[in-house]
Amino acid sequence: MSLKSPRAAARMAHIAPFYVMDLLARAKALEARGRSVIHMEVGEPDFSTPGPIVEAGKQALDKGLTHYTAAAGLPELRRAISGLYAARYGIDVPSERIIVTPGASGALQLVMGTLIDPGEEVVLPDPGYPCNRHFVRLAEGRPVNVAVGADTAYQLTGELVRRYGSPHTRAVMVASPSNPTGTVVTGGGMREIYRASVELGAHLVVDEIYHGLVYEGQAETALALSDDVLVINSFSKYFGMTGWRLGWLVAPEGYVEAMDRLAQNIFLAAPTPSQYAALAAFEPRTIEILEARRREFQARRDFLLPALRGLGFEIPVQPQGAFYLYADCSRFTDDSFGFCMDLLEQIGVAITPGKDFGSNLPERHVRFAYTTGMEKLEEGVERLGKYLKVG
Ligand SMILES: Cc1ncc(COP(=O)(O)O)c(C=O)c1O
Repeated sequence: MSLKSPRAAARMAHIAPFYVMDLLARAKALEARGRSVIHMEVGEPDFSTPGPIVEAGKQALDKGLTHYTAAAGLPELRRAISGLYAARYGIDVPSERIIVTPGASGALQLVMGTLIDPGEEVVLPDPGYPCNRHFVRLAEGRPVNVAVGADTAYQLTGELVRRYGSPHTRAVMVASPSNPTGTVVTGGGMREIYRASVELGAHLVVDEIYHGLVYEGQAETALALSDDVLVINSFSKYFGMTGWRLGWLVAPEGYVEAMDRLAQNIFLAAPTPSQYAALAAFEPRTIEILEARRREFQARRDFLLPALRGLGFEIPVQPQGAFYLYADCSRFTDDSFGFCMDLLEQIGVAITPGKDFGSNLPERHVRFAYTTGMEKLEEGVERLGKYLKVG
């Protein structure tokens, strides 16, 4: 006897794939045939992990530090993260409120799994990081996707939270800087969003994964607003550790026990060698390397933003952080996915179609990631110029 037809749970119908993966597979096939492809679709730094972090990881392996840690993470790493908040933002975050996770992705699962009851709502910006709404679904919650545009720098505002919130709203989620737009919630904007969330009786959850990568001023952590804000962060982007799978979460004290319990159950602990490696992430010699990289990302943005605008892509808001430019390509197409496929086939330029980030005018948007060197970016712009018959 056997069960012949596989049947995925109904919730899986709401979990969309990353469409850019189709594009990536095609790019790889073209490269295997000797074609040159300029990769501006990749959402991770092209730089490899800084030497001091790699060294610390190797030493951990050599010493046999390969067993589970406590579910909430190595106490010394939790203390080091607490030290980061003191040094970078001047605020006191007790290490007991910090939970180390397998990437920001692990933190997102803990947040949704701990906060959301079936049917409860989470207010999110659209466009936004697509996995967020899928994590809400996984917890049997309901994502409320709010269309945001250039008028609010592609971010939620207090007014939007009030308009789209309801008695069922359990959380409001913001990423600052954002993926895919690179825009930051500035001024009193976060305080306004926080106030509106509290009025609804909802928690504010802020994804600060791109925090180290801010090019104008310094992003404030939402933890400065109140102890009941939840903040997600990661070693993936600024620290250049995507493949080590390491992030963290700062939770209100009252949730720590439940989150620890959930972490024990769904992943036991974050990878141990990665945690030891990350102890070197805050050393001055590592920060020096990372700050040089930040300046390089800024130089890339400062080249690519005017270059794309010159070609006719509309980028109405100057992104202050991350490594993305979210561009309106409606001057060239009303089918951004087909446009991306055509760019790849015709000129070997890979970018991400808007439909990976939501359902708010995806067909007229694309995301450029400046996660490749300046020469490649220049070559990419030249190819685009020829294809679009300008420049
Ligand atoms: C806004 C945002 N949050 C979370 C993640 C997940 O990152 P990780 O799990 O590698 O820390 C990403 C990855 O691209 C992201 O862009």
